[in-house]
Amino acid sequence: PDGSVEVPVVFNIIYSLNTDAENLSESRLQEQIDVLNQDYSATNPDVSKIPAEFKTVAANDTKVRFKLAKIVRKFSPILVWAPTGDLMKRSITGGIDATDPSKNLNFWAVRNMGSVLGYATFPESAGQWNDGIVVTSKYIGKAGATDPFNLGRTATHEVGHYLNLRHIWGDANCGDDFCDDTPTQPSSNSGKPNYPLYGTCGGVQRSLMFMNYMDYVDDAAMFMFSNHQKERMQAVVAPNGPRVGLR
Ligand code: ARG
Ligand code: ZN
Repeated sequence: PDGSVEVPVVFNIIYSLNTDAENLSESRLQEQIDVLNQDYSATNPDVSKIPAEFKTVAANDTKVRFKLAKIVRKFSPILVWAPTGDLMKRSITGGIDATDPSKNLNFWAVRNMGSVLGYATFPESAGQWNDGIVVTSKYIGKAGATDPFNLGRTATHEVGHYLNLRHIWGDANCGDDFCDDTPTQPSSNSGKPNYPLYGTCGGVQRSLMFMNYMDYVDDAAMFMFSNHQKERMQAVVAPNGPRVGLR
């Protein structure tokens, strides 16, 4: 009734080498779950870095939590996976079939997707065979992950998409992310921008919320969701929402 939900996460780990880097340990996967729980409850250690001007629109606890439900592991000789076509999500194409995607968040790990860190399905795919998120193994968890994406935030970002969040720049020049408390911004930001960072849309110059999880900055530079983003995510897992099966 208070809107809280604990999402069961099924990790589908695909490796070509049986090494720590590819066949991720249970502790590394639990570390990823812990990051998600911190980021989604605004108890992440860097929450204090949120600039004063964004403190009132920064979401507190989203009430979404995660628990490790199952780990499925599979060897594959495939070295590079396309970030399109979802081959990793079906055993007949060398991947791992989802575990009941209407009840679980399926989280696939693959060794390489070229320059793509991860991708996700939106709630309109709820319960379908390909529903879930995919993250390149070296960007999962923290210990042993690859800098500058070594704080587990690729998953934080992908789960945001899974819960109906758009990129903060709306995937267009000064595009719409359907959240009225995230300043309109011209395009994605990257690296570790210095605050304040300004951008102009429609002749109006704004201080950009580049530290939002739905921008493209480095893991160490992102540390907040906004209130409106929280509302959108809660609507997805609500009793009348498309992902009600996760509760
Ligand atoms: N490029 C990916 C996407 O659009 C993920 C970006 C994640 N960013 C990060 N700092 N880990 O879904
Ligand atoms: Zn994204």
